[in-house]
Amino acid sequence: MALYSEKVMDHFRNPRNVGVIEDANGIGEVGNAKCGDIMKMYLKIEDEIITDVKFETFGCGSAIASSSMATELIKGKPVSEARQLTNQAVVEALDGLPAHKLHCSVLAQEAIEAALEDYEKRK
Ligand code: FES
Repeated sequence: MALYSEKVMDHFRNPRNVGVIEDANGIGEVGNAKCGDIMKMYLKIEDEIITDVKFETFGCGSAIASSSMATELIKGKPVSEARQLTNQAVVEALDGLPAHKLHCSVLAQEAIEAALEDYEKRK
């Protein structure tokens, strides 16, 4: 069996929502102490709906694929729904990640969480 699913490879090769949102009203940055990778998430929220989301990462392929999928899962969704997003849901949407790469999906989920917290603070 291939180590990475086709979905992981697709999101790694063609990541969705990469970049910066200049007028973001929620920004979150997190790092993983073990691998040293960093993830930054930008949210544009209007009337409690996530109208745009972008990410930048100094992360591995799994982190890129996880963030790409995570941004797709919360785009256009209410803030309340985005708060419920788990890294498990991201992994499932990617058709799985190898066990030693699960922490990469946590990085994506935590960056979204941090961006949502930032949004709440700015309100
Ligand atoms: Fe660090 Fe994947 S190895 S995020």
